[in-house]
Amino acid sequence: MRELVPLSVGAAATGLFVREHSMRTNAERLSAATLETLLNAIDANDADTGAHVRRVATYALILGEAARLDNRTLRSIERVALFHDVGKLHEALTDIFHDPKKLTPEERRAVTTHPLRGAEVLEPLSVFYPDLGKGVAAHHERWDGSGYPRCLKGRRIPLQARVVAIADSFDAITHRRRYSHERSFSEATRAIAAGKGTQFDPDLVDLFLSPPVLAKIEKAMRQAHTPRTKRGNRRRGRTQRVPDITFRWRQRSLSSRSRDHRP
Ligand SMILES: [Fe+2]
Repeated sequence: MRELVPLSVGAAATGLFVREHSMRTNAERLSAATLETLLNAIDANDADTGAHVRRVATYALILGEAARLDNRTLRSIERVALFHDVGKLHEALTDIFHDPKKLTPEERRAVTTHPLRGAEVLEPLSVFYPDLGKGVAAHHERWDGSGYPRCLKGRRIPLQARVVAIADSFDAITHRRRYSHERSFSEATRAIAAGKGTQFDPDLVDLFLSPPVLAKIEKAMRQAHTPRTKRGNRRRGRTQRVPDITFRWRQRSLSSRSRDHRP
């Protein structure tokens, strides 16, 4: 009888642990599903933007890993990269972004509102991801303080936004856009180098332009250009416009699912 007491305490503790683990797993799945849904909304509205933000996330993660950032920060960078342009979906901007004509000065001013509009869209998630809206709001800030919307300078710009700014510019240069043709990999690296200390964080630029990082970026860029089927196999004629990246949240939620086998 004496032995039953510690046994029941142990069983209760185990039960509590299992329950807590299960609740955390479900919360992670809900969070993953929310982010996937938001990404689906971006794809549905504009597949080109969906492809752009995935490439930006890929490049941003390569840079973040090279900077030896911890996993929590990398996940945060991934989220900021994937949702940095969500403000472009705003009713006031969507026609401007889809109109093939050159922007008028008034339209240019309107475009500069997209970082704050994006942060507003993401506001309900700020309880769970406090860095997300701040990072999105700051992705057009510049290291020298001449960016928008708040003219933040240097390290006052959130790290996530500094990383994403380089990845975003790199992708904007290497992919054709409404107003500009795509330029070569070397032209893009020259543009990033030219922005060192003015547009971009100088330490991050040095890292981005280091040979091992450039090799990874170039490989990722080639993969993003390669047509893929929905299953990821390269085949002629059956292409998917949006390249796949392995989301950190998806990895985690899938591995959680395989552990406890619940629906
Ligand atoms: Fe932007």
